[in-house]
Amino acid sequence: MSSSRTVAANLPYPVTVEPGALALAGDFVRKVAPAFRYAIVTDSHVGPLYGTKVAESVGVSHNDILAIPAGEASKTRGSWGWLTDELLARKFGRDSAIIALGGGVVGDLAGFVAATYLRGIPVVQIPTTLLAMIDSAIGGKVGVDTPSGKNMVGAFYQPKGVLVDTQVLDTLQLKELRTGFAEALKHGIIADRRYFESVVGSIPAIVYSVRDAGDRLSDLVVGSIEIKAGIVSRDEHEGGLRKVLNFGHTAGHAVEILSNFTISHGEAVSIGMTLEAKIADLAGVAEKGMAETIRSALAGAGLPVTLPKTMDADRMLEVMRTDKKVRGGTIQYSLPSTIGRMAGSDSGWTVSVADAIVREVLT
Ligand SMILES: NC(=O)c1ccc[n+]([C@@H]2O[C@H](COP(=O)([O-])OP(=O)(O)OC[C@H]3O[C@@H](n4cnc5c(N)ncnc54)[C@H](O)[C@@H]3O)[C@@H](O)[C@H]2O)c1
Ligand SMILES: [Zn+2]
Repeated sequence: MSSSRTVAANLPYPVTVEPGALALAGDFVRKVAPAFRYAIVTDSHVGPLYGTKVAESVGVSHNDILAIPAGEASKTRGSWGWLTDELLARKFGRDSAIIALGGGVVGDLAGFVAATYLRGIPVVQIPTTLLAMIDSAIGGKVGVDTPSGKNMVGAFYQPKGVLVDTQVLDTLQLKELRTGFAEALKHGIIADRRYFESVVGSIPAIVYSVRDAGDRLSDLVVGSIEIKAGIVSRDEHEGGLRKVLNFGHTAGHAVEILSNFTISHGEAVSIGMTLEAKIADLAGVAEKGMAETIRSALAGAGLPVTLPKTMDADRMLEVMRTDKKVRGGTIQYSLPSTIGRMAGSDSGWTVSVADAIVREVLT
């Protein structure tokens, strides 16, 4: 049996990873964010599964569990308005706090509600997807989508604490688990070769049984949190170093957009990492063989690694160009030089790559 681990000591708030932690949520929440009253923000999938357990542990009335419909379509100003109105109607005061119980959609939305409600009340993140545990719950980026794009309105707002119960991943769909694997592999690629190798080695056992994966799963989650925390704690507002987290995301976002979001973020980032690793290779910044190591790790995790035939190079480049990472007319990429290390340490952690090279990879 795995044990409780408080990780990421370099963050200003505690992150505890513990299988079964949900039942102890009350102790954790009251310690990190003492409040007169708590509201639980969750979604229509997670609420019925885990809402009562957390509510009972913290002592939250069933009425104060606020559930949005599950899915990205709920990460809107409309949901923000509904949640804030519900809190106001229930007379939640400045001495209250929010518990965000769910995946990245709930975490981003509930965090943004907390950042703005009565000019800011504390939020505790209890992430329930692998992606939320290792990525979105760490770093303090909160916000909502608008018709112009994802995450267009938001804030940097740090939680008071993050509580991770890896056992809840038992009910998560395999497709969602894979999205988390894509980001975990990314963390290894950008920062830690040994971690990358351990993730590659652990994925089959985790896919086989989350329940029996034990320490393998805890190690994967803890290792990723340590890497992300190490990066964001040194660059809270994305001045420089934090850009390394964008590896795979320039091409990945374009794939997501061109698929009209029918390809999930994790799948798109997997395709994006495969393409950008090849771009690094052709641009001459990568060690020989790196691109193939990355491709085969992603494919081994059951993730897609080829650009859909419907997406041609011109349209990809057009969309990538609008993705705000353009300097002097050339797109800036966050590229690895080898597994565990990023290129561009002397140029703000990005590399300018001519469209001709990118076009060659995309066709
Ligand atoms: N803030 C950041 O730094 C950051 C980083 C990465 C991603 N994000 C955001 O995160 C969001 C994606 O998050 P996500 O992938 O967690 O998606 P999600 O929150 O939509 O969750 C995916 C699905 O899994 C369900 N679910 C969640 N936990 C479950 C569980 N334990 N058992 C069964 N079902 C469960 C949800 O109801 C949902 O249907 C995007 O909006 C993205 O922009 C934010
Ligand atoms: Zn991502």
